[in-house]
Amino acid sequence: MDAAALRAEFPVFERYAYLNAGTCGPLPRAAAAAVGGVLALAAEQGRADAYFEAMLDQRTRLREGYAGLLGAASDDVALTTCTSEGIVRVLGALQLEPGDEVLTSDEEHPGLQGPLAAARDQRGIVVRVVPFAQIAEAVEPQTKLIACSHVSWVNGRMIGDLRALADVPVLLDGAQGAGAVPTDVTALGCAFYAGSGQKWLCGPVGSGMLWISPRWSERLPAPGPTYLNLDVPRDGLAAAPRADAGRHDASAQSAETTAAALAALDVLGGAGGAQWPGVHERAAALAAQLADALAERGREVAPRDRTTLVSWQDADPPATQALLAQDGVIIRDLPGTGLLRASVGAWNDDSDIDRLLTALP
Ligand SMILES: Cc1ncc(COP(=O)(O)O)c(C=O)c1O
Repeated sequence: MDAAALRAEFPVFERYAYLNAGTCGPLPRAAAAAVGGVLALAAEQGRADAYFEAMLDQRTRLREGYAGLLGAASDDVALTTCTSEGIVRVLGALQLEPGDEVLTSDEEHPGLQGPLAAARDQRGIVVRVVPFAQIAEAVEPQTKLIACSHVSWVNGRMIGDLRALADVPVLLDGAQGAGAVPTDVTALGCAFYAGSGQKWLCGPVGSGMLWISPRWSERLPAPGPTYLNLDVPRDGLAAAPRADAGRHDASAQSAETTAAALAALDVLGGAGGAQWPGVHERAAALAAQLADALAERGREVAPRDRTTLVSWQDADPPATQALLAQDGVIIRDLPGTGLLRASVGAWNDDSDIDRLLTALP
């Protein structure tokens, strides 16, 4: 993998040490150009058959790209707008009854907590919270679903092996997993994997995916199939939802969004996705390098695994984040935790890490 060539695809590095992919990845030039291309063509040629055919072709390629990344079949991948949408779809479609327990962890993001709280308040499910590292051992007979992160957004720890829990479906929040770390949904042993396109896949806000295991697919009917979710829309009232995961596609995703997401995926994965192993390895190595350097300087780095997030204690995280931003170093603080978090991708290099270390008060 040519690290310098990859970095050169991202204009943001001309000015910033951008270490914030856990929020939104850097946007490659090609993605911005793809948006412009779609809009220019639409304005000049109108939006008729050719426009829609091109969009459908790009949707197919995006679905295949996401599927390849997850080690999945493209029929099992829905195109969503974000991780949270996938989570909402799973919680909404699973037949959870009042009193059914959903097990979750103490390190979850509001994108999962919000849908869980709504299911508790509106449908009477019980949400039990246990430490992230203890999820697998905490399953009880009343547990009907496990819903937790693949990679903790708080500290970059990774979920353990869940394959032994085969009878209890696992919904993984893959916002900090998809594109960041090697991800094989079968090896993970999950039933559902919801991911973001705008973070580690460097796509636009409004892109994402939901993988549905064929084993659990029948348990996940489409909540309200809209035009894009129908198998043969012209069948009118007889039209059935698509049999594949496409029945959970977002009701509408703009052609610009699809084109940009696909362009970003091509930049990262290269031809046929061959570049992904190199991208994952470089990101993990650079993140470990940053974690070690922070520890050497006496910073208390939060326990982490070989992922792309590095969090450390800071006396005043919002103030330090703002100070770093003045020096062109973009990281985030994690409200309520006393932590600052840097997101390290294959697009970063030593200069970004040095800039961060130098700018830290
Ligand atoms: C662990 C985790 N889950 C969910 C989300 C929300 O992602 P999205 O905006 O794609 O729904 C985030 C975003 O930061 C996250 O870190």
